[in-house]
Amino acid sequence: MLQKFDKRNENLKIWVGDQLLNRNDAKVSVFDSVVQGGDAVWEGLRVYEEGVFLLDRHLNRLQESAKALCFESIPSNDHIKLCLKRTLEANNMSKDTHIRLTLTRGEKITSGMDPRLNQSGPTLIILPEWKPPVYDNEHGISVITSTIRRNNPSFLDSKIHHTNLLNNIQAKIQANFARVDAALMLDYFGFAAELNGTNIFMSKGDKVFTPFADACLHGITRGLIIELCEQNNISCAEKNISLTELYNADEVFCSGTMGELTPITAIDGRIIENNSGIEMSKNLVSLFEGVRKNFCVNL
Ligand SMILES: Cc1ncc(COP(=O)(O)O)c(C=O)c1O
Repeated sequence: MLQKFDKRNENLKIWVGDQLLNRNDAKVSVFDSVVQGGDAVWEGLRVYEEGVFLLDRHLNRLQESAKALCFESIPSNDHIKLCLKRTLEANNMSKDTHIRLTLTRGEKITSGMDPRLNQSGPTLIILPEWKPPVYDNEHGISVITSTIRRNNPSFLDSKIHHTNLLNNIQAKIQANFARVDAALMLDYFGFAAELNGTNIFMSKGDKVFTPFADACLHGITRGLIIELCEQNNISCAEKNISLTELYNADEVFCSGTMGELTPITAIDGRIIENNSGIEMSKNLVSLFEGVRKNFCVNL
C-alpha cells in the first residue's frame, strides 16, 4: 500500500462547517449531501515551506465545479482562504502538508436527491494532513489498464471535480488486485484518459503529449507542465493517445498534487524503454522545481 497512517496526524484539527474540531469529533450530518449522494466538490492542495501551491487556480476550479452543480451560497475564495489559514495555524502546519478541501451541497431537510431540500448552504471541510508526495518519484510506478472507462461529458463531465469517485475507485481496486500502484483509465473511445488519481503524459524523442482534457480532470499540475513546456520551447501537444503509443513511448509519467511528477515504468507488465535517451521527465521535474516557489502563496 502506498500510504500508511502517520502518527503526526493523530490529533489533527479539522474545519467542518464554521468551526475547528478535533479529529475524532470532525463529522458531517447523515443528512449532508455528501453522505446522501456523493454530492460535493473537492480540491487537493499542497503546502510547501513557501506557501500553498497554485492556491487561486485550485479555488477557482472549486468555484467552477460548485457553480456547474448549481450549489447555492458558495463561500467566496477570500472566506475559504481565511478558513484555510485558521486551520493551518491551529495545526502548526507550514510545510509537508496535503489539504483535502471539500465543499458539500450541505445538509438536507429530509433525505432525497432534490437540491431544493438543501436549505442551509454548503458545508466546508478542510482536512490538513502531514503527507509527503504519495508516489515513489525516484523509482516510478507500475500501472495496469483498467476495464473501467473514465467518464466523458455525456455521462458526468470530468471538468467538475466532484467526490463521486466510484469509477476511479473501481479502477484502483483492479490495480490493487494486479499488485500495481495505479490504474490507467481509457476514455469511451479507447484512448488513454488518465490514471485513477493523476493525469498522464508521454514523450517520444523531444516531444511531449498528453490526452485532451475531454475525459480526464483538467489537472492544475497538468496545466502547469503544459505552460512550462511552452515557456521552454518544448513541443507539447494534447492529442488522442492509444495504448500502442504509450507502450512505444520513450517515457510515460503522471502528474498531480498528490504525487507531483512521477515516472511510469511499466504499463500492463510492459517496460517503458527510452530509445531516444532524452530524459524529458527529469528535465520537466527540474523546471517544475525551479518555478515552484513562484506559485506558492502565503495565507
Ligand atoms: C482523477 C484525477 N486526475 C488528476 C488529478 C490531478 O489534478 P491536480 O494536478 O489538479 O492535482 C486529480 C487530483 O485530484 C484527480 O482526482
